[in-house]
Amino acid sequence: MLGNFSYCNPTKLYFGEDSLKYLNAELPKYGKNIVLIYGGGSIKKNGIYDEVVKILKDNGKNVAEISGVMPNPTVDKLYEGVEIARNHQADFLLAVGGGSVCDYAKAVSVSVNCGEDPWEKYYVRFEEPSCETLPVGCVLTMVGTGSEMNAGAVITNPHTHQKIGHVFADEKIMPKFAVLNPKYTLTLPHYQMVSGIYDIFNHICEQYFSGEDDNVSDYLSEGLMRSVIHSSRIANRDPQNYEARSNLMWAATWALNTLVAKGKSTDWMVHMLGQAVGAYTDAAHGMTLAAVSLPYYRHILPFGVQKFKRFEVNVWDVDPAGKTDEQTAQEGLAAMEGWMKELGLVMNISQLGASAEMIGGIADSTLIMNGGYKTLNRDEIVEILKECL
Ligand code: NZQ
Ligand code: ZN
Repeated sequence: MLGNFSYCNPTKLYFGEDSLKYLNAELPKYGKNIVLIYGGGSIKKNGIYDEVVKILKDNGKNVAEISGVMPNPTVDKLYEGVEIARNHQADFLLAVGGGSVCDYAKAVSVSVNCGEDPWEKYYVRFEEPSCETLPVGCVLTMVGTGSEMNAGAVITNPHTHQKIGHVFADEKIMPKFAVLNPKYTLTLPHYQMVSGIYDIFNHICEQYFSGEDDNVSDYLSEGLMRSVIHSSRIANRDPQNYEARSNLMWAATWALNTLVAKGKSTDWMVHMLGQAVGAYTDAAHGMTLAAVSLPYYRHILPFGVQKFKRFEVNVWDVDPAGKTDEQTAQEGLAAMEGWMKELGLVMNISQLGASAEMIGGIADSTLIMNGGYKTLNRDEIVEILKECL
């Protein structure tokens, strides 16, 4: 276990079928003026909206709403929400939805009292807030991003074709609490469910594929990956299986709540490629990751053979006997590909609306990270993206 780090995660979680009632315990801790934030209407169809509004009323809250937060929330929507929160003199932001809604609430939180353009400050210059921020709570309805227990907030600027995630350094940006009721996720369309499942899996990969030290995070990651593969197969066959869906929900939270990153340099290049594809196509986040993963991993495999071999043996149960390390490593990626196809994931970026003409722009929009086994240059990014078409 190498590295120096501190660890603090202040988000309180309420998990299970009864978890929403704990809003009654949390809401009294905050002021009267609440902004309820949600997406395009799924919570009105499945009844979660009515349940939440009743609890807000029972607690005597003065509620304003930001509705219509779109998947991959945009900077224009952020500006709109900041105005609503300012006019309401918000004391607290309650996000009810998936990662987009939770991320958006955090972006509003750091922007309400910010005197500068939040896009420039947080997403171009990557500065930390220098103003008061608003507390955020989250009722999660879609599983995958881990936004319910982290300080990440991804915003898309369609004008500049950029989709940028800022993971704020200060843990006060993490939600104060999150309600995780697996039942709420049962109304998700299959496409969104599997997109979220791959997002979970890839978050673990991004942290696992870095470093060569003996690290407790890698053992935790292997356990999480095995659980995700197991539960995903059950959920894929039987989406209403509560046990599988609840395990996926819990695994998603632990995949990206900072724990398994401890002591790791972390890679995140699949996310950088996927987000750049997302900036051009507005596709579902997990699908953008699925569509770029295999060409990327096959490209970096020679630079991290021992770790890929370990992944294949410990996660995919590939028998290494009689094979070279490289053969074992390749076989594991083939096993992963089989699982991805079994789930029905999108395996290329053309299907998401990307075209050969976009490759240069997508490459320019891809942030280059240097924590993985190979720091890519622009030519390599273009080569990988072409293989993803
Ligand atoms: O808008 P509504 O009508 O609610 O519909 C949503 C949306 O269309 C629907 N949905 C959510 N819960 C549902 C439901 N439909 C039926 N029943 C339910 N219970 O699902 C669609 C997708 O929702 P969204 O919130 O966009 O999905 P996800 O949770 O995947 O979030 C994606 C966003 O999170 C960012 C992504 O980049 C993207 O912008 N990420 C945030 C991260 C973080 N905070 O750390 C890390 C991730 O890597 C990711 O980048
Ligand atoms: Zn992700």
